[in-house]
Amino acid sequence: MRRVYLDNNATTPVLPEVLDAMRPYFGEHFGNASSIHHHGQETRGAVERARESVATLLGCRPAEVVFTSGGTEADNLAIFGLVRPGDHVISSTIEHHAVLNSCKHLQERGVEVTSLPVDGRGLLNPDDLRHALRANTKLVTIMFANNETGVIQPVAEIGEICADADVYFHTDAVQAASKVPIDVKTIGCDLLSISGHKFHAPQGVGALYVRKGTKLEPMLYGGSHERSRRAGTENVPGIVGLGKAAELAMKAFAAGEDRLMASLRDRLEETVLGKVESAGVNGTGAPRVPNTTNIFFDYLEGEALIIALDLKGLAVSTGAACSSGAIEPSHVLTAMGLRSDRARASIRFSLGKQNTAEDVDFAIQLVPAAVERLRELSPLYNKDSAVHSESVPPLGNR
Ligand SMILES: Cc1ncc(COP(=O)(O)O)c(C=O)c1O
Repeated sequence: MRRVYLDNNATTPVLPEVLDAMRPYFGEHFGNASSIHHHGQETRGAVERARESVATLLGCRPAEVVFTSGGTEADNLAIFGLVRPGDHVISSTIEHHAVLNSCKHLQERGVEVTSLPVDGRGLLNPDDLRHALRANTKLVTIMFANNETGVIQPVAEIGEICADADVYFHTDAVQAASKVPIDVKTIGCDLLSISGHKFHAPQGVGALYVRKGTKLEPMLYGGSHERSRRAGTENVPGIVGLGKAAELAMKAFAAGEDRLMASLRDRLEETVLGKVESAGVNGTGAPRVPNTTNIFFDYLEGEALIIALDLKGLAVSTGAACSSGAIEPSHVLTAMGLRSDRARASIRFSLGKQNTAEDVDFAIQLVPAAVERLRELSPLYNKDSAVHSESVPPLGNR
């Protein structure tokens, strides 16, 4: 049975070149990167080369890259490494749970947190940030690109506001890295998180950019690894994989592969909307990363559509991987003003570097038929009341 995977915002397959780069570090190059002897020096060299590659991807110095176990740890290190009782933090309603729940925990510890809203396109208004700043604001943590919709926040403007106010700015760029070019100086951020498994490196490795001079308390105490910012023997194969994936991402930008991916995504989106009534894109009208589209199909349950498509060989999702199976509608879509039934009728398609035009054709062939079958079973659906997708009002407030 043919299987097509369009859930790359949940995780991506490790690319063959990445696996090839990692393989020796599971075998012949096994040393502890802290050891003085030959074996340690060999792996130390590999870790430092990977640090250079990640620094190139982010536009920073190698010394500003701290390797972590992934995006969640990078987000936690940025937030808990900086914030102390009595501080004020500003975040948004559409963050990933790695940031949302960290902020919730801060609140339980007596830290005040302001959560900024987004509009119907999923965009934050920089003026809201200006108005939310206080004398004790220590940190602004706002994501670069949303994992469910792919919507890109005005991070450079946010960075400017934070710099003017002398407030630290952290951005969760887990869903932006390798999809759009990142330059920490252009963004003006102090901290930025990435995660390997979102761009074809393995799961369990990531990095936090920490601007030189940022006073960050470590979360883990032990040896003086990562310049005492993250204790623990380095995950050398994972770090090597992350470095290789960063290198490949830079090459892909140079070759214009991001534009190619956007055209595949756009074809998927336009063809599906052309064939299916009462459907539309969540986040339309906002800048988005090139691999993601989040589409609502009114009059059905997203979970049922996912199962129907999976049975035919197409893997997609309702949004955040960790909230799959939950009855609650997506916090991101409801924050954008979608009615809960429309939020629950929304599906995320996310492409990866391994996907081809044929994969998109496969999805285009399956999705309209699956939607139609499910709607036929729905007591809410009346074909005569369905509207052409182009005239569906946004936000589900019909
Ligand atoms: C925006 C965002 N931040 C953080 C994370 C967490 O990253 P990790 O899975 O590496 O812990 C994810 C993963 O889904 C994400 O999409």
